[in-house]
Amino acid sequence: MDLHKEVDRRRTFAIISHPDAGKTTITEQLLLYSGAIRQTGTVKGKKSGKFAKSDWMEIEQQRGISVTSSVMQVDYDGYKVNIVDTPGHEDFSEDTYRTLMAVDAAVMVIDSGKGIEPQTKKLFQVCRMRGIPIFTFMNKLDRDGREPMELVAELEEILGIDSYPMNWPMGMGKMYLGNYDIYNKRLELNHPDDFDGLDFIGLDDQGQPESHKELLEQSSVYCDALDEVELITEAGNPFDQAAIAAGELTPVFFGSALTGFGVETFLNAFVDFAPHPTTTETEDGKEISPYNDQVTGFIFKIQANMDPRHRDRIAFVRICSGEFQEGIEVKLDRTDKKLRLNNTTRFMADSREEVKESVAGDIIGLYDTGNFQIGDTIYTGKEPVSFKDLPQFTPELFMKVTPKNVMKQKSFHKGVAQLVQEGAIQLYKTWHTEDYILGAVGQLQFEVFQHRLLNEYNSEVVMEPMGSKIARWIKPEDIDPSMSSSRNLLCKDRYDRPVFLFENQFAENWFQNKYPDVELESLL
Ligand code: G4P
Repeated sequence: MDLHKEVDRRRTFAIISHPDAGKTTITEQLLLYSGAIRQTGTVKGKKSGKFAKSDWMEIEQQRGISVTSSVMQVDYDGYKVNIVDTPGHEDFSEDTYRTLMAVDAAVMVIDSGKGIEPQTKKLFQVCRMRGIPIFTFMNKLDRDGREPMELVAELEEILGIDSYPMNWPMGMGKMYLGNYDIYNKRLELNHPDDFDGLDFIGLDDQGQPESHKELLEQSSVYCDALDEVELITEAGNPFDQAAIAAGELTPVFFGSALTGFGVETFLNAFVDFAPHPTTTETEDGKEISPYNDQVTGFIFKIQANMDPRHRDRIAFVRICSGEFQEGIEVKLDRTDKKLRLNNTTRFMADSREEVKESVAGDIIGLYDTGNFQIGDTIYTGKEPVSFKDLPQFTPELFMKVTPKNVMKQKSFHKGVAQLVQEGAIQLYKTWHTEDYILGAVGQLQFEVFQHRLLNEYNSEVVMEPMGSKIARWIKPEDIDPSMSSSRNLLCKDRYDRPVFLFENQFAENWFQNKYPDVELESLL
């Protein structure tokens, strides 16, 4: 195997979007274009059941094909594309954020009828922090939505990122003529039948169509689009590949995931511009090249099987360098323990299969019997490697938790400790009384916690919701226990660092006014 070549054709990305923006539908299109599935269409009935699963499992149910949750690998146009799922709705959890630590690029799908929505904003911020390229797909142009100029302005304003429209819609809804493809210098036509069966019409040096000019000029949506394109090419941001790579400029595409219009153009540009895997930084500031022979990787997600009959868990590893082969021996940096990795899984579009080999950029699943924790590094060879810790995220939802049966304190504490270590939930204790408080970024984390504690540790718990809070860390020297009240509860986190849980923004502002010298910090 030519490692260099294999790494260079990897594209590892996640799709970020607000629920219902069209993530599933666009994923389906990618599967279709890559030949992984043969039919597509609206994923119907997905709202009828209670899904605490990946969207792809819903596709699986709809299509009767077997796509696995969480990670998929498909071949597209000579590239090996790894898509990592970022569950959007009821599954929203720290996992969703952490997944973004394992990808090299993100695709942001926006419903053009709605614009930037809250979940998109949260996920975007994590991508921004990592400085990975972000590609924007303005979806649902087959419906009447908001004006494209307004959408692009909102994108820049709310998210604080520059944008470069790669194409521009000519109309929308029933009047959606197609896209003026600025980057590829052509018109992409939504209704080829109206143009003698042409899907595309080339543009000359002046940006004028090479054929059907008169017909096009009779269309008001074409003329309007032309005016807008002139405006954005003169007054907008220049195309800048380095800025795209640094995540400072997002290329914007328009289209419809449902009808597939504009999707292929988008995917082609995406695989061309999205980066192949690059270096990964270690704790001591070294950069590990993906082309290194030494195999390294880190664990960013542990998925416990919710089925009580099977206690197995899968640890998801992002390979950072080298060529992984089945049966290799690795060392776990945290414990120094040697492990032979025999039972590994790779996730293909239509099946899980045993991994024979994988390279940097790929994501593999390791069957875990309790060896791994989120953030662990694995490596081959003698040279120890330890990648930087994965960031912790500021939880927003809190829950008091106590064991139902006081006689079973031991299993309760053991279970809590392990689930916290695994990164499934965050733990806080009230400053004085050390009552347990759980913190999460999504409701599902609590449900999973309760379920696993019962099933894996035989500990039934009482959970008392505290609602959403604003968690802010302070320096230990600033502590004055009299500062604590029910509206700003002083707690300690799992490392005994002092943290306030504010009831709301008002409470935080009030506190800050009263104690202007106390610095309040958030995690990510
Ligand atoms: P998600 O994974 O981001 O949550 O979104 P998903 O792809 O499931 O799409 C949500 C709904 O939006 C689906 O409708 C889907 O068919 C529709 N949709 C996605 N892309 C487009 C598009 O380009 N144009 C139009 N018109 N619709 C699109 P659904 O499941 O039938 O539910 P409903 O929302 O229509 O009730």
